[in-house]
Amino acid sequence: MKIIEAKDYNKMSALAADYIIEKIKANPNLNLGLATGGTPVGIYSNLINDHQKNGLSYRNITTFNLDEYVGLSGENPNSYRYYMDDQLFNHIDIQKSKTNIPRGDVADIQKECLDYEKLIANQGGIDLQILGIGSNGHIGFNEPGTSFDSNTHVVQLAPSTLEANARFFNSPEEVPTEAVTMGIATIMKSKQILLLISGESKKEALFRLINGEVNESFPASVLKNHPCVTIIADEAALADIKVHS
Ligand code: PGA
Repeated sequence: MKIIEAKDYNKMSALAADYIIEKIKANPNLNLGLATGGTPVGIYSNLINDHQKNGLSYRNITTFNLDEYVGLSGENPNSYRYYMDDQLFNHIDIQKSKTNIPRGDVADIQKECLDYEKLIANQGGIDLQILGIGSNGHIGFNEPGTSFDSNTHVVQLAPSTLEANARFFNSPEEVPTEAVTMGIATIMKSKQILLLISGESKKEALFRLINGEVNESFPASVLKNHPCVTIIADEAALADIKVHS
């Protein structure tokens, strides 16, 4: 794993956006894996600025998001479909038909999981997957204990995840308790992975990722088995690494 240090959140976002822009320039047909949550917001606004200023086209880009809440339709402002449209897709020239997010509001959710896995494979796999990390080490919504062999599946969200995500909802009771997520095996099939880590609340997770064992109790540790992972982390997230190294 290669680690790039950024001074703060804004710098991390700018570096990550530049990284993605270079990949799109090199391959205008890129299959790009995307993430939601607080961490990528700055990246997406940098991509929009660049698109408006420099005209980089997303016309032939296909995207695959990591996850979606079970029970929320794309019209719900807390759904990840809504987030992606609002934070990125509505502001660039991407074709909406090429933006893929698991559906959380379908009758047959198991079929949705199988279909999503097939969709990624039929498209030739993900070239570059953007990832955040939970303070408990989750990637996507793969909570601690998830099998490294897992494909796209339905998960029960961990109490710490429900707590962390409550900030996006009017009340903690509104946070869905289940989600559909790409599995760990799905994520590991991506050709390249870009992991973004920002802020003091993530410093223990980053420390454990760097210094801990590869173990299903800390899902992100699997990334040590991937041949092409780049981490961009800010100083606040790297605080413990510096102290201990
Ligand atoms: P965050 O979430 O970007 O909102 O901190 C990351 C994650 O839980 O994967």
